[in-house]
Amino acid sequence: MTVIDVHTHMYPPAYMSLLRSRKNIPYVCSFPDDPSAGDRLVILPAEDTASTSRGRPIGPEYFDVNEKLTFMRNHGIDVSVISLANPWLDWLPSSEAAKVARTVNDDVERMCMEHEGKLYAFGTLPLSAPVEQVTAEIRRLAGLKHHRGIVMGTSGLGSGLDDPALDPIYAAIEENEQLIFLHPHYGLPTSVYGQRASDYGHVLPLALGFPLETTIAVTRMLLSGVWDRHPKLQVLLAHSGGTLPFLAGRIESCIAHDAHLKKEGKLHNRRDVWDVLKNNIYLDAVIYGDVGLKAAVEASGADRLMFGTDHPFFPPLGEGEDEWLSVQLNTQAVHSAFGDDQKAADAIMGSNAKRVLRLPD
Ligand code: URA
Ligand code: ZN
Repeated sequence: MTVIDVHTHMYPPAYMSLLRSRKNIPYVCSFPDDPSAGDRLVILPAEDTASTSRGRPIGPEYFDVNEKLTFMRNHGIDVSVISLANPWLDWLPSSEAAKVARTVNDDVERMCMEHEGKLYAFGTLPLSAPVEQVTAEIRRLAGLKHHRGIVMGTSGLGSGLDDPALDPIYAAIEENEQLIFLHPHYGLPTSVYGQRASDYGHVLPLALGFPLETTIAVTRMLLSGVWDRHPKLQVLLAHSGGTLPFLAGRIESCIAHDAHLKKEGKLHNRRDVWDVLKNNIYLDAVIYGDVGLKAAVEASGADRLMFGTDHPFFPPLGEGEDEWLSVQLNTQAVHSAFGDDQKAADAIMGSNAKRVLRLPD
């Protein structure tokens, strides 16, 4: 069995230099007067405090390719498809974005070349740049030997993935047969977590904000007819689609009963959520439990799920442990969901990714 990880991140050296050079979100800071605080990664407004415990600890597992390879060895992962971690290039000024995207994507391509056969990548787009520069990077990425698609957050050009101004970008992605890896970052407004949210660490935004952000983004794409206009557009959803597999029936029912959509004539000739789930959506298997994984399989099909780890997020909890609980949970979920059906488990652990991402044997 070949194990392929389609959800695994890095901040490559070119991106780390940028983060270290900044004082505003996103940035990495260190504390020369208190080296025990270590380097901290600050990528969300709620993390941006004045204390040495701001953000999250960031170590070489985020940027050193040897750490990625060690992690892969320790967990029996044969191939990793690396994507830049959030918040990608969403925050760059328009005039700088295209150049930075080329530098970061080339940095990752070089890493893949240096570890031939072990590493592939999803590239990053300069979404704040003029549209022609974005489509030029899509075409360029399609020609890079180790790139297999594009990682994207939910903000699009600034107003979400249902923005009609994204149409030329979706068209270029579709035409170049690239896969979008759609990943959350912004979560939900912090007010929904209540006054005691900071007592609960990152649990509410990560466990609930992230999946709902993804679910809302995809539902908005569906409602705005993205897949009616781009019937071949393929999207891999992070975290098994957020809550999409579980809520698809409710989403479809709300659409079918909506008086406004009916009056606007938007209920005819539209592709429904089940059709899109089975023909345009792939789901990673980053769900940490077999109940959610079974819902994902039911929604999209066992041939559309692909194993992932979300490394280097959710590190091992025990001092000195090098096996990650998060990875064990994802692997166990696959095996417990499929029981003796080794062929289906193998498909999710690697052979689906090999087929979908055109990876060599
Ligand atoms: N996983 C990610 O990819 N990003 C985060 O910020 C947290 C978990
Ligand atoms: Zn992730």
